[in-house]
Amino acid sequence: MSRRPLPHPVAARLSTATRHLPAPLAAVDLPAFDRNAEHLVGRAHGKPIRVATKSLRSRALIERALAKEGFAGLMCYSVREALWWAREGFTDIMVAYPSVDLLAVTELVSDPGLRAAVCIMVDSVELVDLIARGVGDVRGLRVAVDVDASVRVGPAHVGVRRSPLREPQQVEAVVRRAQERGLLVVGLMFYDAQVAGLPDSSAVVRRLKSRSDAQLRLRRAEITARVRQLVHLDFVNGGGTGSLHVTGRDPSLTELAAGSGLYAPALFDGYDDLDLEPAAFFACPIVRRPADDIVTVYSGGYVASGPPGWSRVPSPLPEHGLHRLRTEGTGEVQTPLRGPGAARLGLGDRIWFRHAKAGELAERFTHLALIEGDEVVGQAATYRGEGQCFG
Ligand SMILES: Cc1ncc(COP(=O)(O)O)c(C=O)c1O
Repeated sequence: MSRRPLPHPVAARLSTATRHLPAPLAAVDLPAFDRNAEHLVGRAHGKPIRVATKSLRSRALIERALAKEGFAGLMCYSVREALWWAREGFTDIMVAYPSVDLLAVTELVSDPGLRAAVCIMVDSVELVDLIARGVGDVRGLRVAVDVDASVRVGPAHVGVRRSPLREPQQVEAVVRRAQERGLLVVGLMFYDAQVAGLPDSSAVVRRLKSRSDAQLRLRRAEITARVRQLVHLDFVNGGGTGSLHVTGRDPSLTELAAGSGLYAPALFDGYDDLDLEPAAFFACPIVRRPADDIVTVYSGGYVASGPPGWSRVPSPLPEHGLHRLRTEGTGEVQTPLRGPGAARLGLGDRIWFRHAKAGELAERFTHLALIEGDEVVGQAATYRGEGQCFG
């Protein structure tokens, strides 16, 4: 994967800004976050972007994104999280993943205010039945239907394994069952992970992405038209940080979704024309020197989810002149780093890293230091910092 160089050295600036704060600590560079927001909006071809909350996991930063022109609505990852936001007064909330938390759905459906604010995801007759049986009176519960947006290349499945719904008649069957049960079907979602979540690492990947877009446009158009004959749709959602530029052009979609691009973690370095600036970082202090060319920092092993491998491991900023040891990676409480940079560093100095993914960083910290220039201008609580943990 190609690594986009950071536009200018940031480690020294971040260390100066946060010198009064204990480390490990996490920080978000607000001007970079804001420029990323602008860049994402610029790629969306005028379609509103729903904020993917899982990729930020901090209320203040989610609200900062929502306040910008071009962003509208929340894409949550748990029904309990959606209830929390709805109780804060937010009214345009979609839960993007199926849930069998029937207690949470019962809470949602029994309060008219919450019910009007939140839409949950279904992708099978079985799930519709389970919710209807488990919750009892589900009349007026707003749901959207998640449609498989993977592509087929010959017999191969390219994309993630999520919704089992692929053919229009399968989607119609779920819509009809939902209607029979008294649910309100208000949306469709088609998330193209094979475009949005896959770096442009080779000509094969680029070809695959354009093929995916062509296939998906046809399926989205057909399925959306057929469902629109059965129900009124408030939204048809698709795309993510890595695919706004193509999903934004699909007339079947009324809105897009994105979150990661605001923090711009390391996994998003390898996309063509995705001109994001790293905006989220964490720092760990050097606590020992096992050899002249090695320094060891406290903690650091915040490995990301997904297929295991080096792309999931946090990376020290290149300007430190240090690299991870293949024998240890980043550790539970210690991370050794080797390189020419070790000679210029001493105990207590901080090494700045980027996480491979976006929101998962926030699960490791209670607060994110908010940076402007070389100053901390505030602290944003993470979900964890607010005592919330939604999985
Ligand atoms: C349903 C859905 N939509 C959109 C996204 C895009 O999120 P991001 O922009 O953080 O990559 C994701 C990410 O996994 C997703 O699951």
